[in-house]
Amino acid sequence: MELKQAIESRRSIRVYKKEPLPLSDLKEMVRLGRLAPSVANSQPWKFVIVTNKKLLDDMARKVAMQLEDIPASKSRAAQNVKSQVEWFATFFQDAPALIALAMEDYESVLEKGVNMDHDDINRLRNYPDIQSAGACIQNMLLAAVDMDYGACWLSAPMMAKEPLREMLGLEEKYKLIAFVAVGKPEKIPAKKTARDIDEMIKVIE
Ligand SMILES: Cc1cc2nc3c(=O)[nH]c(=O)nc-3n(C[C@H](O)[C@H](O)[C@H](O)COP(=O)(O)O)c2cc1C
Repeated sequence: MELKQAIESRRSIRVYKKEPLPLSDLKEMVRLGRLAPSVANSQPWKFVIVTNKKLLDDMARKVAMQLEDIPASKSRAAQNVKSQVEWFATFFQDAPALIALAMEDYESVLEKGVNMDHDDINRLRNYPDIQSAGACIQNMLLAAVDMDYGACWLSAPMMAKEPLREMLGLEEKYKLIAFVAVGKPEKIPAKKTARDIDEMIKVIE
């Protein structure tokens, strides 16, 4: 598939056929994800591929419990928002596969020469670790399209990132960044309307 076609046809897929995915395809998505640029070429990635339904259910339950603990008014509107967010944060439990992306801290070149700690430098540089993760995730989403799968990027479950990290058996040095749920699409939603591109571009000649 042409890259442009993959970019244009990609959309977030959240409902999947029950078919399991070959591990080799999931590993290929990860292989293409890890080719993304990363700050200082740190390649700080750790990927956990989960197809175990019980673990996915347990993880989704943990996310729902975490959401439950977030204070909200008892109004019907607030409760509706919560249940909508709950679905967007937990639908991964019905995905045939989930790829969790975690990463360890990179060592900035600056760190070696200035008296500033890693977190301050990272903030100063506009979180290049998270920017790198975004590139990696987008590569995986486009790889999924190329392989005729549908995928969705999820950050909402990260409200339970600490317990999820433990459930995934990741050491503390890894920060859990996001999930990518993937499977054969059950239904493909219409393309979202895009904002007018001229409103987004400023040209300085
Ligand atoms: C950083 C990021 C986090 C996202 N987190 C979630 C999420 O937690 N749950 C979800 O259902 N979709 C999530 N999405 C998907 C967006 O809702 C989706 O990309 C957006 O609505 C545009 O739709 P499209 O991907 O079909 O073009 C996330 C997307 C991004 C880029």
